[in-house]
Amino acid sequence: MKQRMSTLLAVAAFTAAFAAHAQQPAKKAAPPAKAAAPAKSAITQEFEKFREVLEEDNPAELFEAKGEDIWKNKKGPNGASMAQCDLGLGAGVVKGAYVQMPRWFADVGQVMDAERRVVHCMVKYLGYSEADIRKQPFSNVNKTPDHVSVITYVAAQSRNMKIAAPQKHPKEKEAYHIGQEIFAYRAGPYDFSCATCHGEDGKRIRTQDLPNLRKPDQAIRAYQGWPGYRMTGGFMLTQQWRMNDCFRQQRFPEPSYLSDSITALLAYMTVTANGQVYKGPGIKR
Ligand code: HEC
Repeated sequence: MKQRMSTLLAVAAFTAAFAAHAQQPAKKAAPPAKAAAPAKSAITQEFEKFREVLEEDNPAELFEAKGEDIWKNKKGPNGASMAQCDLGLGAGVVKGAYVQMPRWFADVGQVMDAERRVVHCMVKYLGYSEADIRKQPFSNVNKTPDHVSVITYVAAQSRNMKIAAPQKHPKEKEAYHIGQEIFAYRAGPYDFSCATCHGEDGKRIRTQDLPNLRKPDQAIRAYQGWPGYRMTGGFMLTQQWRMNDCFRQQRFPEPSYLSDSITALLAYMTVTANGQVYKGPGIKR
């Protein structure tokens, strides 16, 4: 307990320091500079050291536990439960499912990523309203929605497993190719694509190192640490949130929640990361 308190105090201190840093006035968007300096900025290195310490006592576990409780104990209107939810490996099977999505689901005739599938099941079996979920799909300081906790639980059940998104069904292949095209598609006021910021090694915006998501060893960063506990705020954020936020970075209109284009992008990045080991929900600044 004592250790936990000191960890939490350290979080608070770092969070305050980071928030102060983050509040520097944002410069108007310019394409990210190629880094001439060392591969990782000093603040990134500091953050990574800090994260290693913190991950031993990761606050994401609180959300994981809440998600597990909903998955195992909650009942829907007709007594249904998540035991009926098929994440691709059979009804109720959670272990290893997260790292094998996006995949084709014959029951709905769609390729779905993990977040989409979890929400689908919560609506179908537990009676959650999709309209309500869409009202607040992502966490904020006031609330981490239930589906985010369930996703955190599901993701944790793939800890230390290899990413293995299938590419057998023609629609799975199609999703990959559409994702690849979206990734390279330039438009908007600055003519940015995802690849403008994430298509080459060594790019950086202010203190943030940008992964080259076309390479397997860096594409894993679309997964690693997601869902992530956000220290500046104290809540969990998912991959879908990250995608929306990057569309904002790109000055594109934000996609609607659980859209096909996000599933396609995730299929592209996941397949690129296939074979890399997923370490479970993590911490993000
Ligand atoms: C204007 C630059 C910019 C564009 C364009 C952009 N991003 Fe990002 N992206 C960022 C920044 C900044 C981060 C945060 C990096 C960090 O937290 O260290 C980020 C983070 C990410 C991450 C998480 C990396 C990690 O380590 O957790 C993924 C995945 C990602 N972007 C995907 C995309 C995709 C897909 C697109 C196109 C829809 C896109 N980005 C477009 C700037 C951009």
